Amino acid sequence: MNTKALVFDAYGTLFDVNSAAEKCKEKIGDDWENFANLWRTTQLEYTWLRSLMKRHKDFWKITEDSLEKSMSVYGVDKGMKNELLNLYKVLSPYPEVKDVLQRLKKQNLKLAILSNGTPTLLNELVKSNNLNNLFDDLFSIEEVKVFKPDSRVYEMPVKKYNIKANQITFLSANTWDVSGGGNFGYNSVWVNRNKSKFDLLDYKPKNEVSNLTQLLDII
Ligand code: LAC
Repeated sequence: MNTKALVFDAYGTLFDVNSAAEKCKEKIGDDWENFANLWRTTQLEYTWLRSLMKRHKDFWKITEDSLEKSMSVYGVDKGMKNELLNLYKVLSPYPEVKDVLQRLKKQNLKLAILSNGTPTLLNELVKSNNLNNLFDDLFSIEEVKVFKPDSRVYEMPVKKYNIKANQITFLSANTWDVSGGGNFGYNSVWVNRNKSKFDLLDYKPKNEVSNLTQLLDII
C-alpha cells in the first residue's frame, strides 16, 4: 500500500457507541441493546436528513434529539437522559485500539480521526481514554458543516496533508462510510467486527479486518 496517512472513523470504529447504554443496562432493562441500536440508527438518519435538508445542527445536538426520540419509543425513564448523554461523552474504545495506535505511531504515517463529532466531543473522547498523544489531527465535519458521506468531509485530510486521496487508508466499521470514503478515492478498509454484510453502494473494499490488530498485517 502506498499509504501516507491512516484516517479512522470514530464512532463504532474506535469507540463502542453501545457502551453508554450498556453501562445503564440494569436500569433500562432487557431491551437495552435494541434501544441503543435505535439511538444510533436515528442519530445517523438525522445526520443524513439534515445534510439533505441543508439544516445543519451539530452532532452533539443530534445525539440528544435522537436519544430523546429513542427514549420515548422504549419508554426509558426521562430522568436518565443526562446520565446517558454524559456517558456518550466518554465512550469506551474497543479493547485493541490503544495498543494498535501505539504501534502504528512508530511508523512514518500521519494518524488522524475523521468524524461527524464536534471538536469538543472528539477532544474529550480521546482525552478521557488517554489517546490524545497518538493522533496528529482530529478532523471534525464542523469545519465544513455537512455530514458524512459528503465529499467535502473526505477532502479535509487530503487538503491538510497535501496528498492524494488514494494515499489515505481509511478505516471504518460503518459500511456506508467505507463506501463514502472509497467512492471519494480513499483506500477504504472495512472493520467488520460483527460478521456483517457489505452494502451495494458502488464500492467494495479491497481489505476487510475483523478488528484493528489485523491492520498491522496489511499496512
Ligand atoms: C463518525 C460516525 C459516522 O464518527 O461514526 O463520523
